[in-house]
Amino acid sequence: MKSKSILVTGGAGFIGSHVVDRLVTAGHKVRIIDDLSGGFLRNINPKSEFYKVDLRNKNSADKIIKKIKPEIVYHLAANAAENKAQFSPIDVTSRNWNAFINTLVPALRNGMKRLVFTSSIAVYGALQTPFKETYKPEPEDLYGISKLAIEKTLEVLSKVHKFEYVITRPHNVYGPRQNMTDPYRNVITIFMNALLKNQPYYIYGDGNQRRCFSYIDDVVDAIFKCGFGNFHGMVFNIGAEKDYSLNQLSEIIQKVSGINIPPIYLDNRPQEVKIAISDHTQAIKYLHYQDKTPLLKGIISTWEYAKRQGPQKSCFDTVEIDSPLLPKNWKV
Ligand SMILES: NC(=O)c1ccc[n+]([C@@H]2O[C@H](COP(=O)([O-])OP(=O)(O)OC[C@H]3O[C@@H](n4cnc5c(N)ncnc54)[C@H](O)[C@@H]3O)[C@@H](O)[C@H]2O)c1
Repeated sequence: MKSKSILVTGGAGFIGSHVVDRLVTAGHKVRIIDDLSGGFLRNINPKSEFYKVDLRNKNSADKIIKKIKPEIVYHLAANAAENKAQFSPIDVTSRNWNAFINTLVPALRNGMKRLVFTSSIAVYGALQTPFKETYKPEPEDLYGISKLAIEKTLEVLSKVHKFEYVITRPHNVYGPRQNMTDPYRNVITIFMNALLKNQPYYIYGDGNQRRCFSYIDDVVDAIFKCGFGNFHGMVFNIGAEKDYSLNQLSEIIQKVSGINIPPIYLDNRPQEVKIAISDHTQAIKYLHYQDKTPLLKGIISTWEYAKRQGPQKSCFDTVEIDSPLLPKNWKV
């Protein structure tokens, strides 16, 4: 494969850094833009070029993208705290929608040919499962709304400006390099971090929410492939097949860690979708997606990673709109 000039936004983050590794291994020239709000220098592939830029800043984004002139952009920069989004709507909108448009416009002005966007199954909201790509999206939360706005923007602007785009909708991705300091998302590492501190973790509602937890190595290969091949305008759900309740997940993590501390149950979080299961027929057919890693195996490898990191201080911040519905463990 001919080497391409590729920009990965959010490339110091969890999924983004694995995408960068995959692209570097395939021989591409990879540049990363990340503001390190949720990513880490230790995640950055030494064979890539790193620019610490906040993509909410239009002028900074413009300057760097003009210099890089990427042929392909993998856009992963975001704040993906889906349940916090209702309490900090400006933050989620600016880190998703604004950061995206500030990336797309200069990339188009400087010759970008294709953009691979990491959306989310949050766009389906509480529609009937398994979610299919043919569904008309109906997001329940502001994170899903911002992802859908980006998807629609790609659809419209690609018709006018003649570039290619591919949309991936992954779900519940976990594994080594996931941010353990974020108390608002990444349930698996939140549970593990609490256990490393010998503390209980919190479950919102009755713990019967069902999710399909998807191991990073399986997901990253499918995202990587979207940069190449004939997939213009296609949408792919990507992730594991088997669903588990949060109570089942909790039991597995306690078993693997050998640390048994009963969870504390809190009220439901507003707008949280109860069952999120998607259909992966498209990804299996076109991207040869394979759900290879059973949950137990993935949890063992993630626990080894969490132990190497050690207990992490959780980084809470003040939300934009306080409310009696704000989970009480999020009050700072
Ligand atoms: N983890 C999942 O389960 C999952 C599921 C579906 C979709 N996604 C999407 O995949 C992408 C990556 O998610 P992740 O789990 O790796 O999260 P992450 O927080 O580890 O990665 C996001 C990266 O974006 C960077 N970033 C945020 N705002 C920025 C800004 N304004 N300018 C520059 N960089 C900025 C952060 O520093 C971070 O490194 C996101 O777009 C997310 O919405 C994730």
